[in-house]
Amino acid sequence: MIKALLGIDLILDILEPREEFYLDSFSVLNLCDLQKIEGWISGDSYSTIHYFLSKELDESTSRDKIVTSLKSLSVIPVRNSTLADAFESQHPDFEDNLKIVSAQKFHIDFIVTRNTSHYKNSPIEALTPQEFMNRYKSGKLVKEITSVPFLDLKSQHHQIYNEIDDRITDIIANTGFILGKHVDEFEERFAELQGAKHCIGVSSGTDALHIALLALGIGPGDAVIVPVNTFIATAEAVNLCGAEPVFVDCDRFYNLDVEKVREIVESRQYAVNSRQRVGEDRGRRSEVGDQRSEVRGQRSEVGDRRAEVGGQYAVNSRQGKGPITNNESPITCIIPVHLYGQPANMDEIMALAEEFGLMVVEDGCQAHLARYRKSDVRWQSVGTTGAFGAFSFYPGKNLGAYGEAGALVTNDEELYMKAKMIRQHGEIERYHHKVIGHNYRMEAIQGAVLATKLKYLDEWTKKRQENARLYNELLGGVDGIQTPEELEGTDCVYHLYIIQADDRDGLQKYLQEKGVASGLHYPIPLHLQEAYEYLGHKEGDFPVAEKAAGRILSLPMYPELMERQIRYVCDRVKEFLISPQRRRERRDI
Ligand SMILES: Cc1ncc(COP(=O)(O)O)c(C=O)c1O
Repeated sequence: MIKALLGIDLILDILEPREEFYLDSFSVLNLCDLQKIEGWISGDSYSTIHYFLSKELDESTSRDKIVTSLKSLSVIPVRNSTLADAFESQHPDFEDNLKIVSAQKFHIDFIVTRNTSHYKNSPIEALTPQEFMNRYKSGKLVKEITSVPFLDLKSQHHQIYNEIDDRITDIIANTGFILGKHVDEFEERFAELQGAKHCIGVSSGTDALHIALLALGIGPGDAVIVPVNTFIATAEAVNLCGAEPVFVDCDRFYNLDVEKVREIVESRQYAVNSRQRVGEDRGRRSEVGDQRSEVRGQRSEVGDRRAEVGGQYAVNSRQGKGPITNNESPITCIIPVHLYGQPANMDEIMALAEEFGLMVVEDGCQAHLARYRKSDVRWQSVGTTGAFGAFSFYPGKNLGAYGEAGALVTNDEELYMKAKMIRQHGEIERYHHKVIGHNYRMEAIQGAVLATKLKYLDEWTKKRQENARLYNELLGGVDGIQTPEELEGTDCVYHLYIIQADDRDGLQKYLQEKGVASGLHYPIPLHLQEAYEYLGHKEGDFPVAEKAAGRILSLPMYPELMERQIRYVCDRVKEFLISPQRRRERRDI
């Protein structure tokens, strides 16, 4: 969207009002109100506007207009560094310099003012309100698209910048840097939005997963099902507890293939039971029922167990041995990942978990607000069916912090208390440590950013979904391209928009040449990563994930992505798909 820094003269045209200029200035402000353009003003103008608002107004309609418009304008704060830069600048007028420096800091496209002569040498073009409106009406304001970034976090600033700025100033002023009221507010709202009883703000998505597993008592001797195509953090959390990740292939929706989960759970169970029958493993669990009760027992002894886990893992790491694995451990937990924002088949996963007495931790790191129709009836947010739901707020996520952050949600009071303890060194009361925990606290600044952004998450999610629909419309049925399928009864939130292409690498290269950034999520399934060599897998073990890994391509996807940008991307994709011969000919010309 076009970003315009509005001069104070535009506001005064309306406030005073100055008849000859009123209409054009009013039209520019209206574009801001209608969110057709991003309207910014500099902090020094802001105080002048407030002065006028408080002192001189009896024109009620003008006053109303300005008060309304101020809500849609964002303010670029005047900081010491801005002042210093403005002093040092070559331009003669300090106030003008201030505008230019502010505009540069926030990547503004145009300065809109009647005093354009003041900005003759400005690197940012200055237009009068009339010129601006004429260009807008004739469509000439719109920049030609020559590139599309994979992600554009800057395009989110306008909506949220000032509230975040206020909150961060409050944190600095009061020096409450860790947890605190902004994190509390975030936790309360996120729990509410996700439809969970509790939320615990933590330091990252990886940490959220680790805490969840620790709180459930997962440790050495446990095996945990993890989809083979996910970000490595899902599996790492299992290793961090000293347990063994057991990889399973995905289905055509890129999520856990539940039938394959059943096969592996049953075969492990069979192995455990046979060992017991031949008396090889007397001390081990005798049957599913026992296993279940032991799992429950583990949950109530989190403290002891975790101390042991921490100790054992530390010993192993010191000896450079890597995680404990015997490939025989019974499966006690499943981690379905709602990959790319698409809910896994939770009804079937929960049924299987129930049947075998397994615990479930949902990895919702890519799926904030994604829902599925539970038992075909009621919409349920991901993360609220299993014992815990883990979320990441890595900056590029659907809900992104300004640094590292994550959260857990749960409906279970006891688990909530345990997870909260683990987040903060096993404490409930300051310096009274009930169990061995960790420092997994969320920083106040991240809580502040997330609490602000949460207000927009629903709107942003809908935009992602609209973008996905447009991609589907433009690329659906195109030869050589496969658009993503949605599992029936799910509401996908499109953290990523994934296509498959016959010549994926060629397509990615071509897009790059044309200015379209794309990504691979993920190019190597976990079983073929060096880190997991110790599990002894080989190529061919997980054919669906392996095939997908060579074909998938993530196209740009974020709420602020414009229709024109999506069309540009799709046109380039289609262009690439004209015959290779023609491509070669074109290149030779
Ligand atoms: C599926 C999945 N799980 C876990 C994580 C880990 O989250 P974080 O990066 O916040 O530690 C991520 C982050 O990319 C993820 O995508």
